[in-house]
Amino acid sequence: TSVHGFVDPRFEISRIDRRLFGGFVEHLGRHIYDGIHEPGHPTADADGFRADVVELVKELGVSTIRYPGGNFVSGYRWEDGIGPREDRPRRLDLAWHSTETNEVGLHEFQAWLDLVGSDLMLAVNLGTRGTQEALDLLEYANASVETAWTRRRAENGRDEPFGVTMWCLGNEMDGPWQLGHRNAEDYGKLASRTAKGMRMLDPGVELVVCGSSGSGMPTFGSWERTVLEHTFDDVDFISCHSYYQEHGGDAQEFLASGVDMARFIESVVAIADAVAATRKSDKRIMISFDEWNVWYLHREDGSESGDELTGDDWPVAPRLLEDRYHALDGVVFGDLLITLLQHSDRVRSASLAQLVNVIAPIMTEPGGPAWRQTTFFPFSITSRLAGERAVRVPVDAGTITSARFGEVARVNAVATVDDGGATLFLVNRSTTDAVDLRLDITALAGGDIAVIESHLLHEDDLYAANTLQEPERVGVRPLDGAHVTDGILSLQLPAVSWAAVRLG
Ligand code: AHR
Repeated sequence: TSVHGFVDPRFEISRIDRRLFGGFVEHLGRHIYDGIHEPGHPTADADGFRADVVELVKELGVSTIRYPGGNFVSGYRWEDGIGPREDRPRRLDLAWHSTETNEVGLHEFQAWLDLVGSDLMLAVNLGTRGTQEALDLLEYANASVETAWTRRRAENGRDEPFGVTMWCLGNEMDGPWQLGHRNAEDYGKLASRTAKGMRMLDPGVELVVCGSSGSGMPTFGSWERTVLEHTFDDVDFISCHSYYQEHGGDAQEFLASGVDMARFIESVVAIADAVAATRKSDKRIMISFDEWNVWYLHREDGSESGDELTGDDWPVAPRLLEDRYHALDGVVFGDLLITLLQHSDRVRSASLAQLVNVIAPIMTEPGGPAWRQTTFFPFSITSRLAGERAVRVPVDAGTITSARFGEVARVNAVATVDDGGATLFLVNRSTTDAVDLRLDITALAGGDIAVIESHLLHEDDLYAANTLQEPERVGVRPLDGAHVTDGILSLQLPAVSWAAVRLG
């Protein structure tokens, strides 16, 4: 029988920036409070951080973590979160109609990052605030000479700088829901001024300017062009945000989400490079895909996730955006990771939105357990098994029909290679057909390589999920029968499945 494709390291896409496996923690719902921070929980340490959550975040394998928002940051006064806890103000968080206690701020969050072993990526408030407050925060975080701000940092227990490299210039400033929302022209000018000041203070920072909050935004495209015309010389990255969900029970269409993400990335790259071309510049603006996930944002009844709180009720840590992910979501999610790796030449940073309780791979119950959602598995496995370099894997295993994109590949795949071998990541997007796949891998050590580890995410019940009552209902299992013979890797992918195969 014929082969469907091949893996050849000469078809390299790029060296992979580990920042592709980033996460995102926002002051939102039960993410911080009653999520990562729950003094009184049986596993909490002296600072109130849950050790069971720390262990799961470590297992997830997240590189950089974007903080503290999200929509939250556009109304946030970072100074509220420093100094003695008893002096910190309670504030209304207008983005999520909640009360922010400020018990966790920059120092506490850094302490938590030290526990989980991830790097901090900070967002500044360009919604209700401006350049000066961004510079104050940068000086507080990164300056090493003695100033009023660094003295305060030392008084708050930290002599040495935080040394934050990645900075987001605001959040989703194209969105009418955003506090301080602006048009592209006004935002572009503000972002440019702020970026120039930040670089004067610390030339080592890497700056992310806001792209569109989704490719469906009416200003998508023109926003990127105008913003980059103002900031091209000042920034390193432009952001992409994208969330996917199943609409109207159409699982097949949902399974084509990776195609949407690919087109989004390729469109933003085209616009960024067009701006470069008009300036006769060979500088390449990279993409920070700093919010991506499955999120049941638009409900069938027309309401929006997160809009449920109104009126005089401003709760602390309400249950918001606590999506329960099922097996189908996990498969689509795995395809999104494949898509990011396929574009790793330009996507040099990405943040899974979010990490704990809020559209999250990890859920917790106050006083109770923490558990992995279905999306946990593709992330932790991809982060752990992805090697140094991404390699294109052309596969011709038929197509599925998407209402939006026409005929799209049934099997989507990417590989990574490193000195120890290679890893293949694959998804079968078909809702009906299993695929018996044969890939020529003779270019990998002459085919003298074997399957040493494999993982399959697949459930006959697409809507099976892990819950408080049944936290281990869905998991991964080995991909039975995957083997290499005469330089051909053979494996079977059931309908609606994601898999990883380690060869060494
Ligand atoms: O991740 C949830 C929200 O989605 C973020 O706060 C916002 O940036 C985006 O709209």
